[in-house]
Amino acid sequence: MITKNYEKTLQTLAKHNQQHLLTFWNELDESSKEKLLEQIEQIDFDSLDSKIQEYVKNPAPTKLPSKIEPAPVYPAIPQTPEHKEKFTKAKKLGELLLSQGKVAAFVVAGGQGTRLGFDGPKGDYRISPIKNKSLFQIFAEGIKAAGQKYGFQPHWYIMTSPLNDEPTRQIFKSNNFYGLREQNIFFFQQGTEVNYSMDGKILLADKDTLATSPDGHGGSLKALYKSGAIEQMKKIGIEHISYFQVDNPLINIFDPIFIGLHAIDNAEMSSKYLTKCEPLEKVGNFCLADGKVTVIEYSDLPDELAYRKNPDGSLVFALGSIAIHIISRTFVERLNARGFALPYHKAVKKIPFVDTTSGKIVKPEKPNGIKLETFVFDALPLAKESIILETIRSEEFAPVKNADGADSPAVTKRMMTRRAAKWIETAGIKVPKKADGSIDCEIEISSLFALSAEDIAAKYLNLKIEPGQKLYLE
Ligand code: UD1
Repeated sequence: MITKNYEKTLQTLAKHNQQHLLTFWNELDESSKEKLLEQIEQIDFDSLDSKIQEYVKNPAPTKLPSKIEPAPVYPAIPQTPEHKEKFTKAKKLGELLLSQGKVAAFVVAGGQGTRLGFDGPKGDYRISPIKNKSLFQIFAEGIKAAGQKYGFQPHWYIMTSPLNDEPTRQIFKSNNFYGLREQNIFFFQQGTEVNYSMDGKILLADKDTLATSPDGHGGSLKALYKSGAIEQMKKIGIEHISYFQVDNPLINIFDPIFIGLHAIDNAEMSSKYLTKCEPLEKVGNFCLADGKVTVIEYSDLPDELAYRKNPDGSLVFALGSIAIHIISRTFVERLNARGFALPYHKAVKKIPFVDTTSGKIVKPEKPNGIKLETFVFDALPLAKESIILETIRSEEFAPVKNADGADSPAVTKRMMTRRAAKWIETAGIKVPKKADGSIDCEIEISSLFALSAEDIAAKYLNLKIEPGQKLYLE
């Protein structure tokens, strides 16, 4: 049987110039042979050649849209009477949808945290300034607090990848699911893509194993469906999915205004934006491309366009995407029911591989291969409606990405303290400052104490904070 399969597979591979994958066949034992054939069977040979041609071998695969215009947005603070009225309605509706349990949290946590230099699932990275809480714990507390505030049993969907699935589940178990109900947390894995040499040959990671990597967070739209998460959501009445990344501890996971605006406008996929701090800031860029809301990733935006200005001196690409979305469950159902494909983005990386001549594993010192990924925001143009809401950086965006410099733990911790101080000041409490105006204390607020400045103000706190004090509110 296995010999017959071998011959058939060899023929298929030869048709696509990939027969090198069976170079070590005669050295493999039966189980390794089966393992290798199974992986090869997963390859979609119908699209393989065009994919290699278009994305692997093509030196500039990302096409920029031909007609680019500014995208319409809602400001963070409504200015016109119409907007003011709409925001009031949106808040009420958002709160109602939350109280009815119609919104679920969804974090994409399949990435590797390579830039941060952290070994392990990034959600386990400890970041809070005083209590040293992990990202996962901070999200869990936010989710639990929202459940208490709006009166619903929160559900949390967590996407992992084959690289970190087991350790992620283990972390949740050993932390007692951070006080959330275990049955309300749904883990599922994203898919993978095979890796290629620069000339389009699939790489072997071992004699019986293809080199693969996670398929990007765009894979979440298929994985949500395939894993049964969407079906479960339908059963329990979840209509909206609050999508966020694992790196941003300031995220407001259940934001009634955002949810409400998305629902009122019948949007299928909505986003939050903030004004970029500089033209080359490493965030995606919102625009209208051929009439559709689109994000152009920073790595795809030529510098010339990033610096381009409008006649009034403002940047043409000023709206930064911070990877915060509301996705309607029915949108994911619709995409999967009729079949859809997001474009691939290629990353040139150092990929260890088996040299088919020597049979040895090579650990390259320079980039030698290509990984293909899809991005979730490439689904925006597929949505019938899509709204964009402004958010304020100091309130909602402080991602931990790099070991030093921008987006590093030091910056994130400082921003967490600053937001806490601002919330406290809003409640009329004095925060000690140094002569240069910087905050002269450390403050950490658990979401279980307050989810917003409003929550603090409502508590009528009677606090006196001393210079240099470490204040933790829970
Ligand atoms: C990302 C966005 C960028 C946005 C910025 C905001 C991309 C390509 N770009 O940049 O537009 O402005 O965040 O902070 O995402 N992930 C998976 N599976 C994967 C790959 C990634 O789950 O296969 C998850 C990661 O765990 C993380 C998130 O996706 O939660 C973002 O991944 P990352 O590679 O860190 O994106 P950035 O380049 O920082």
